[in-house]
Amino acid sequence: MKTTTVSGPAAGVETDALIIPIFEGGKESRFGAADLVDTGEISGKSLELTLLHHPPGVAAKRVLLAGAGKSEKFTATELRNLAGAAVRHLKSKSVKRIALGLEAGWTAEEYVAAAIEGAILADFEPDRYKTADDRKSVESFTVITDEVVDGLARAAERGRVIGDAQNFTRELVNEPGNRLTPAKVVEAARKMASGYGLACEVLERPQMEELGMGALLGVAQGSAEPPALIVVRYQPKKAHGSAHLGLVGKGVTFDTGGISIKPADGMEKMKYDMAGGAAMLGAMQALAQLAPPIPVTAFIPCVENMPGSRAQRPGDIVTAMSGKTIEVINTDAEGRLILADALTYARKQGCTHLVDAATLTGAIVVALGHYNVGLFSNDDSLRERVLAAAKAEGDRMWPMPLEDDYKEYLKSPFADLPNVGGRWGGAITAAMFLKEFAEDTPWVHLDIAGTAWLDEGKPFLAKGPSGVPVRTLVRLAMTWKD
Ligand code: BES
Ligand code: ZN
Ligand code: ZN
Repeated sequence: MKTTTVSGPAAGVETDALIIPIFEGGKESRFGAADLVDTGEISGKSLELTLLHHPPGVAAKRVLLAGAGKSEKFTATELRNLAGAAVRHLKSKSVKRIALGLEAGWTAEEYVAAAIEGAILADFEPDRYKTADDRKSVESFTVITDEVVDGLARAAERGRVIGDAQNFTRELVNEPGNRLTPAKVVEAARKMASGYGLACEVLERPQMEELGMGALLGVAQGSAEPPALIVVRYQPKKAHGSAHLGLVGKGVTFDTGGISIKPADGMEKMKYDMAGGAAMLGAMQALAQLAPPIPVTAFIPCVENMPGSRAQRPGDIVTAMSGKTIEVINTDAEGRLILADALTYARKQGCTHLVDAATLTGAIVVALGHYNVGLFSNDDSLRERVLAAAKAEGDRMWPMPLEDDYKEYLKSPFADLPNVGGRWGGAITAAMFLKEFAEDTPWVHLDIAGTAWLDEGKPFLAKGPSGVPVRTLVRLAMTWKD
């Protein structure tokens, strides 16, 4: 999908369909809307769509009146969703060339970027392996501003970069386990890094052994697919201050549970257990183009969690890179084991701040459902910065507790730590486990098990991978201040 911008009267733009936002209680009388607003056929409620053919005085073949809700509540997030819902609707009707008209007042960089981003996100479909040849595709999406806007092209470019980055993440997350092994994630990371001028190194088993990454290696040993720790680096031309942001993402390409094997029902979904790692790759792709003021390095431990004949057993005790010993009570709690060594490695590499994202626990889905990412942190300031970035991006995140009392749930008689707590507070004990490896580095943990995959599509997003939390991470790095 090609994205462009143009300034001038929207009514004069020749296109297959022109999207016009309609506010609730507003008095839109152009584009054929007047009668429909008067009769109450159009209310302007958020994401309400009304398609008109050849309305008088408009060069476009169709006008799609798109409910924008109350104008006081209209944000970039609302516009992203509006653009997305409109594009998905038109795409389903095989419309090829689409434009969206933005009136004066809604043409700031944030809005233009959000509209383009929403259109790109809407264009993603999870059905690439269907062989049917009737796949619909949108050729172009144009944002029209009715006034001349400074930096219009730059705003659109930012929207495109962030939209493409999320779709790159979604493509990876959507790949099934047979097609996306750890070696294939390495290939994708190398290709992305070389395409966007980033450095990429990959630690393989011998180096992991030398570094003493016993927690990561223990998970990997049940699979014939070798593990990898992918490191992707962005270095600004001139760094401000001394901060170095580390992004650590869980990259389990398939999670069978290992010897503590999962039930068959729904196990196919565990292909998305690398969504945290894929989000870090997407964020790096965007940051390479947007050039934040601080160095950012992504660390993605990749493994397949399988119950092979060499698999680790419940009761095994492994030694993590940090020196701590871990009793593996449940081999299905593998994410925290691979993240433990990745967090230690990120600290040793000089990261001063860490954010991890992981489809870590079913318990976070019990706690927060599918609407909020669970956010845990050992540092008030970093927590607030991530929450603020998430809010601005319309990524919903909810702060969760990490108090020392919860350590009571995480005791092993045989090793420093067990890899699972008891029955209660499963998402919290998982985060408490990670905290032991973040140590005194300011750190945020995002449990995205409930939010990285949409079981049902939304009007503006297809069913499948959501791309969370790419855009929050991009904003966090772009707005970084020491
Ligand atoms: N990958 C799963 C968590 C998960 C569950 C992600 C549902 C997405 C949807 C993780 O590795 C896991 O299996 N966690 C266990 C931990 C338990 C053994 C303490 C869980 O949540 O059941
Ligand atoms: Zn698991
Ligand atoms: Zn897992």
